[in-house]
Amino acid sequence: MSHVVVISGHPDLESSNTNTVILDELKQNISSLDVRRLDTLYPDYNIDIEAEQQALVKADVIILQFPFYWYSVPALMKKWIDDVFGYNFAYGSKGDKLQGKDFILSFTVGGPEESYDPLGYNHFSIEELMRPLQQTAYLAGMNYHKPVYTHRMVYISGVYNKLEEVQSRARQHASRLLSLVNDLTQEPSNIINKFVAQWFKAFDQLPKETEYFEKHIGSDFSMSMPEGKFSGAEGFRDWYAIATNVFKPNCDHDVEQIEVTSQGDQYTVELRVRLKAETYPDSDFEAQPINMLVNEVWQVSIDENSSVVIHDYQVMLVDHS
Ligand SMILES: Cc1cc2nc3c(=O)[nH]c(=O)nc-3n(C[C@H](O)[C@H](O)[C@H](O)COP(=O)(O)O)c2cc1C
Repeated sequence: MSHVVVISGHPDLESSNTNTVILDELKQNISSLDVRRLDTLYPDYNIDIEAEQQALVKADVIILQFPFYWYSVPALMKKWIDDVFGYNFAYGSKGDKLQGKDFILSFTVGGPEESYDPLGYNHFSIEELMRPLQQTAYLAGMNYHKPVYTHRMVYISGVYNKLEEVQSRARQHASRLLSLVNDLTQEPSNIINKFVAQWFKAFDQLPKETEYFEKHIGSDFSMSMPEGKFSGAEGFRDWYAIATNVFKPNCDHDVEQIEVTSQGDQYTVELRVRLKAETYPDSDFEAQPINMLVNEVWQVSIDENSSVVIHDYQVMLVDHS
């Protein structure tokens, strides 16, 4: 099941009229959810970087929930980003810990829609003002989605809006956000795309144990590889032993194309994958680095825990140097 982590950047949720409503709706409707309230966790702005990074590593979907302050995130949330998105965590040669995670900005805006326009008093669109956060997501390798935001969310009694109005807009906001989360976590092609990224990330590392791979192998698993045909978990282990005697860990699988089509309750996944790897001296490649292009066709299904199960796995060599 997909796990959702919400970072609440409101500096004082007790005084909030809208962010608090959105958070309540999320709590009621997402089963695997961790809401991290920065206002109560870090009133002194002293962020526990380790705890925050661990929470993010467990997440499939990361939502930043905040009130729009001075065209950006509140100071506490900016401090959280500065501290948590560190070197070799979110960026840098080993900074792949957020790669492939879905990233959603969800925020409440005081000004009306028409003000966020070249002719309005706020001049720029909300999407333009979000560019630094969008690029932050890209640098960390996360999947950036269209932000979810709602205008006219300031409530000052007798001056701006009515409490019922802003709270009703907050509930509508939550419902749009929930439907996006639902699409990302329940939509088969999204589940499969994400799985493919994880699968090849595991292959890049070539771990000694095959536990992760075997979790996704069906009882009817069959594999047709350039090295021959293999079946079941035992067959997978035989093939894996051959592969790990040829390729060194920390190789690079780049999924250049992917297409998922539905076939009843199964899915066909067609892939074009480029593998760049170092090889061992006593393998057929005699320690030469290889650059290999393969076409792959998989038959998969999705089980009741939204986990992908592979039934058939075919790999055809296109080219190598
Ligand atoms: C310090 C501060 C800065 C704000 N900056 C903006 C802003 O740049 N643009 C805007 O449209 N609204 C701005 N607002 C209005 C907030 O976005 C609005 O009060 C908030 O979204 C309401 O959320 P809440 O009910 O959860 O507190 C600002 C409010 C505060 C307190």
